Amino acid sequence: MSEAAFVPAIAVDAVAPGKAVKVTVAGREILVCNSQDRLFAVENKCSHADEPLECGRIRNGWIACPAHGARFDLDSGEAMNPPAKDPIVTFTVRVADGMIEIAIG
Ligand code: FES
Repeated sequence: MSEAAFVPAIAVDAVAPGKAVKVTVAGREILVCNSQDRLFAVENKCSHADEPLECGRIRNGWIACPAHGARFDLDSGEAMNPPAKDPIVTFTVRVADGMIEIAIG
């Protein structure tokens, strides 16, 4: 398995608390989310019917899918309620030189 490489995605101060910003890294649409004083990165695709998660409500470390309301844990990606059952894809993030970097494997 190859090591994930951290790729700079967006400035830290461009992602306000309680918000998500869509970025494209290595051809993948990713939402960088700020919740509970933490940064998260998840794929912009719901596991239920592949709808985009952007514009979904973010609270207390989860994001809600705007299509049918499933919520996902931003850290683990786990589905928290129906209709989704499967997790969404999550990415490791780190901050370096004022930039949020996302690990792309
Ligand atoms: S597509 Fe997200 S809950 Fe249905």
